[in-house]
Amino acid sequence: MSKQFDVIVIGAGPGGYIAAIRAAQLGMQVACIDEWKNDQGGPAPGGTCTNVGCIPSKALLQSSEYFEHANKHFADHGITAKDVKVDVAKMIGRKDTIVRQTNEGILYLFKKNKVSFFHGTGAFSRAVEGGYEITVNGAASETLVGKQIIVATGSSARALPGVDFDEQAILSNDGALALGAVPKTLGVIGSGVIGLEMGSVWRRLGAEVTVLEGLPTFLGAVDEQIAKEAKKAFDKQGLKIELGVKIGEVKKGKKGVSVAYTNGKGEAASLEVEKLIVSIGRVPNTRGLNGEAVGLKLDERGAVVVDAQCRTSLPGVWAVGDVVRGPMLAHKAEEEGVAVAERIAGQHGHVNFDTIPWVIYTSPEIAWVGRTEQQLKEQGVKYRAGTFPFMANGRARALGDTTGMVKFLADAETDEILGVHMVGPSVSELIAEAVVAMEFKASSEDIARICHAHPSLAEATKEAALAVDKRTLNF
Ligand code: FAD
Ligand code: NAI
Repeated sequence: MSKQFDVIVIGAGPGGYIAAIRAAQLGMQVACIDEWKNDQGGPAPGGTCTNVGCIPSKALLQSSEYFEHANKHFADHGITAKDVKVDVAKMIGRKDTIVRQTNEGILYLFKKNKVSFFHGTGAFSRAVEGGYEITVNGAASETLVGKQIIVATGSSARALPGVDFDEQAILSNDGALALGAVPKTLGVIGSGVIGLEMGSVWRRLGAEVTVLEGLPTFLGAVDEQIAKEAKKAFDKQGLKIELGVKIGEVKKGKKGVSVAYTNGKGEAASLEVEKLIVSIGRVPNTRGLNGEAVGLKLDERGAVVVDAQCRTSLPGVWAVGDVVRGPMLAHKAEEEGVAVAERIAGQHGHVNFDTIPWVIYTSPEIAWVGRTEQQLKEQGVKYRAGTFPFMANGRARALGDTTGMVKFLADAETDEILGVHMVGPSVSELIAEAVVAMEFKASSEDIARICHAHPSLAEATKEAALAVDKRTLNF
């Protein structure tokens, strides 16, 4: 006899596990299936985000930043730190502990919310009356029937054609987060989010890092002024970034990896490195799902086709997160998961795609929400811009980190905020104020009139809003 559920969620990443919890909160009988295994073969829910993504990368970014501070910046504060060393095994062990705690936290949340968790691969077997039969292949095999199915199977690293990841010399994010020692030389293909974050970690720890990017522009999706400022900071730190390259043959040898490429000037060039990270985007995971059995439609990229509400081509089947269109971000996956659970319950779940924040956790951090100046120009929108540099912010000076700025873009007529862009210290936290403002359709004057604590980095946000009306007080 198969087990019956109102909702079966396939995948327990941020999209899936959050959808399962929200559906259970709304009174439904919920199952969540996930195949990720920890080192002992046990369940490791949390998906890419918890196991090899957001959480472990931020743990290593923090550790490596402390190391860089101790080595390079303590002296500015009159602190002598001699003989500062890195114990890579301990650093990686700390990261692994944080991952394990997060896995356990999610299992606890499933219990607390009465979500039935199944460890194994979930696959469609057939449509049945009033739902779908799903098989679980894992430690124990099960057959489940769900009235509604939520596909939240996430994404995996995209490899260069013909260059497989061995996770020893040619690394995806998995291997890049688990190196046993600091490589002398590290190559990174792709100067996107993973390339910059992982490149920063290993550069801070002592690797000589070269990033090869295919496009001629640096961080093309970021506001140009902000990207330029970030590039200046990365250049100063010694992160070598070559733009406009064309990658040729990638060969593994005894000493590492060699990459033949054509540089931005069209000249033949090569790079010899101990390790190579390939971070050129991610592909949706549908392998193992057996969507063909029920006719689940995929697009040309292999993503599950959904409408604006995350409905797939099949009645009662939904899909959320990295496996569908839109930005591959954990918080976007979570919002879609919540909205779908609410829609199944007959409520009006909603995701505002115009106010999804982006953060790149390098140093300086880069964060933004809404449209860039180049987008507004392309769209012919009349706007006013205001910027405020952290150099003129008292808290940033006290911190000893004055890189970057906050930039506001507001409608020229109505003053509604159209985009907020930041590069600098702790902007991953500062961006939340801009998201709230845009969600409430605030004007730049609204922010300019709000009392911000002094001294705080958030005062730079207020001053940038004042700058839209050319009336900064401290610059
Ligand atoms: P996933 O997290 O990929 O989870 C999918 C789950 O489904 C996995 O556990 C998978 O094993 C399981 N699964 C797949 N197929 C099956 C099946 N057939 N049966 C059972 N289980 C299955 N985003 C941010 O917002 N902030 C960040 O700082 C950030 N940092 C990142 C750093 C790195 C290095 C990487 C790689 C990604 C990062 N991301 C970040 C992106 C973020 O991890 C993803 O957007 C997010 O995890 C997507 O969530 P998801 O639930 O859609 O999929
Ligand atoms: P990405 O899309 O951010 O960047 C890939 C880069 O590789 C682009 O600049 C692209 O032009 C370049 N590229 C593609 N093919 C190439 C080739 N053949 N040769 C040279 N360059 C090439 O992808 P990335 O860094 O792999 O990350 C995947 C996704 O994971 C991100 O888009 C993001 O959604 C998510 N992520 C989010 C993080 C965050 O929110 N802080 C952190 C890390 C990942």
